Amino acid sequence: MDLSEQSVLVTGGAGLIGSHLAAKLAPDNDVRVADDLSKGERERVPDGATFHRADLTDPEDVAEVVTGDLDAVFHLAAYTDTNFEDDRTLFEENTAMTYNVLERMREVGVDRFAFTSSSTVYGEAPRPTPEDYAPLEPISIYGSSKLADEALISTYAKSYGVQSWTFRFANIVGPRQRGNVIPDFIQKLRADPETLEILGNGRQEKSYLHVTDCVDAITHVVEHADRDLNTYNLGSRTTTSVVRIADIVADEMGLDPEYEFTGGDRGWTGDVPKMRLSVEKLSALGWEPPNSSDDAVRRATRDLVAELV
Ligand SMILES: NC(=O)c1ccc[n+]([C@@H]2O[C@H](COP(=O)([O-])OP(=O)(O)OC[C@H]3O[C@@H](n4cnc5c(N)ncnc54)[C@H](O)[C@@H]3O)[C@@H](O)[C@H]2O)c1
Repeated sequence: MDLSEQSVLVTGGAGLIGSHLAAKLAPDNDVRVADDLSKGERERVPDGATFHRADLTDPEDVAEVVTGDLDAVFHLAAYTDTNFEDDRTLFEENTAMTYNVLERMREVGVDRFAFTSSSTVYGEAPRPTPEDYAPLEPISIYGSSKLADEALISTYAKSYGVQSWTFRFANIVGPRQRGNVIPDFIQKLRADPETLEILGNGRQEKSYLHVTDCVDAITHVVEHADRDLNTYNLGSRTTTSVVRIADIVADEMGLDPEYEFTGGDRGWTGDVPKMRLSVEKLSALGWEPPNSSDDAVRRATRDLVAELV
């Protein structure tokens, strides 16, 4: 799909990745953003995009923003806080939003759909994990909700002619991020520069990709992959441990704190302690991660230290 002079809807476009994606698409396309601002911020929606406040769990709101004149929907809106007290809300809202958007697209004849899934659909899989790894056995409700969404997308691609691009993301980091390991460490160190609590044993090791590289890869894949159902991992080729993230954050803040570990091999129930995705399929399509995982963490940390005053 050629991403110029298209009318596109970016759901979740006031969030971290959605706001960067809307900014990338806005100069060449008619970009509309739909977000309920439950976690997103209106100020993050870029100039040049039209903003619609909409709760996508409500089919009436969905009908207002998913209209027949759209060429494509980039569906990023999701309940992304994994604090476990809200597991039911997370599962029901994520699957309801995806179903509502796809069903409305079928009704009004919009037939291109890009979706942000997650490495968590793989569960604790061998690394680097390729897209055709099976069986898919997620260990969190968040991962389960993404896998359920992927099943819905397959159905709409195969039976209702909705061409789809599904992205299984590594951890995406960057400016405007809220409630992730880097902002969490920055805020903890602002409150107490002497000690830093680290969830788990700190040896969890995952792949991080900077948000500007992430949205670059999304648009590249949408422009170059043309099957009815296109599934791609997006990540970097390397990993960063949680202790290494703590070291980078402390270094960027000019601090030398003591680390206190909560213990155990993972940060929380459902946390996959080691994650690295194969990016060979992405590379074969002509997009190579330009930075290491450590570089992505450091760039994001610099921006966030300046932002989170
Ligand atoms: N950031 C990552 O590391 C990562 C990794 C894997 C997958 N993802 C996926 O990528 C997408 C974007 O993630 P992000 O990091 O930008 O998250 P984010 O929380 O910053 O953005 C999600 C947006 O969805 C909006 N939203 C939530 N519920 C809504 C509703 N009912 N109606 C309308 N809008 C609603 C929020 O207000 C928010 O602006 C999500 O689908 C997420 O699951 C992110």
